[in-house]
Amino acid sequence: MLAELACFEQQCRERFPIDEAIYNCPACGGLLEVVFTEDRMAAEEWKRTWRERRTSNRMLDQSGVWRYRELLPFDGHHHQAVSLREGNTPLLDAPRAARYAGLDHLTFKHQGFNPTGSFKDNGMTCGVTQAIRLDRQRVACVSTGNTSASMAAYASAAGLDSIVFIPHGNISYGKLAQALEYGARTFQVEANFDQILALVRVLADRLGIYLLNSINPFRIEGQKSIIFEMLDQRDWNPPDWIVLPGGNLGNTSAFGKALRELCQFGLIHKLPRLAVIQAEGAAPFYHFMQKRDEFRSVPEPRTLATAIRIGDPVSWPKALHEVTVTNGVVEQVSEQEIADAKAIVGQCGIGCEPASAATLAGIQKLTSTGVIRADDDVVAVLTGNVLKDPDYIYRYHTGQLKDPDGNAIEARFGNSPVVVPNDAEAIAKMLEA
Ligand code: F0G
Repeated sequence: MLAELACFEQQCRERFPIDEAIYNCPACGGLLEVVFTEDRMAAEEWKRTWRERRTSNRMLDQSGVWRYRELLPFDGHHHQAVSLREGNTPLLDAPRAARYAGLDHLTFKHQGFNPTGSFKDNGMTCGVTQAIRLDRQRVACVSTGNTSASMAAYASAAGLDSIVFIPHGNISYGKLAQALEYGARTFQVEANFDQILALVRVLADRLGIYLLNSINPFRIEGQKSIIFEMLDQRDWNPPDWIVLPGGNLGNTSAFGKALRELCQFGLIHKLPRLAVIQAEGAAPFYHFMQKRDEFRSVPEPRTLATAIRIGDPVSWPKALHEVTVTNGVVEQVSEQEIADAKAIVGQCGIGCEPASAATLAGIQKLTSTGVIRADDDVVAVLTGNVLKDPDYIYRYHTGQLKDPDGNAIEARFGNSPVVVPNDAEAIAKMLEA
């Protein structure tokens, strides 16, 4: 469909061409979003087409993002799409996790099954495709690790140069390793995510580098497909709740927009409620939603879930809108709660990285206060793969994990490896005990 960029601020709503390389409204500084300028109601036809594409061998059809291209702003540019066959992530039933969280039933949508192991690939395929459309050779981002891994991979696949900025010492080695392996020029900056974002915006403007943080509206467009695919996999039956972790709040913005568009175009008739979960030491959105007065950033965010170690989330005005429209909630969880929930996701045979486990910890809290009911239909989105942060896992299971204040995190579901002699007799005795 034909599309434009629009300022997200309701008092402004200024429109701009879809191929203008801007990240904020030049008129008022507000966030930008893509708006469709056609109003085509083709719900049943789209549902049929999208289902048929699952059996096709065309790259565009095989991608779990580009399969839904009718609701993406790339008409006339599909031949430029850069895809690593992202999306196509499973819905997994998790009875053990459901019991832990006080639910009758719980489903995970596991975005860690993506090519670079996180939900960022859903957005990055569109972000890098927009860079190609705009004829940019260099792309950059600041990242807590997953965005940079994803951008590095997609940029290299497209033959672009990628420049990655990460907070020195505060991302997992798995993610840093990916940026290096995929060939990004990687700068480790002695500052936190929020400070580096300000720096990168200056550099991008000065050097004409295309910025691929989630402030980029085309990343948000791609991430909508997580919801499109989830609903498609559920035969278009919306759940009661969709639960996700909140960091920079790009994903919350994307999920809300996707749900609104599905309603607008007649593909679903009920909005699920969004539940956004933050880590206690990096929870500015949670605190804001308690009173809804002034948005106050957290100057020094702290959490072992480094993916969501963000104190000044750029997309909070969008997230506020989406949580409000869906009658959603925002919750915060402790380091111990995240660590235990993560071990439970592992015990389901599923596994995820720390930030993703905030979802299960959050659900447990929300069922205990009666916000989510035991018989509610809940889908939790696991944002990253279990192998993203093995160091955290080893420390938890061996009782060595410490929170950012240095307090020990209890290995309540610990599973420590045992060192044994090379002696069948001795090992047999231990196994029989
Ligand atoms: N989960 C994971 C695994 C993440 O990597 C992130 C964000 C989030 C949740 C939060 O999503 O920012 O849209 O609210 N990671 C970014 C990065 C910031 O740089 O990789 P959000």
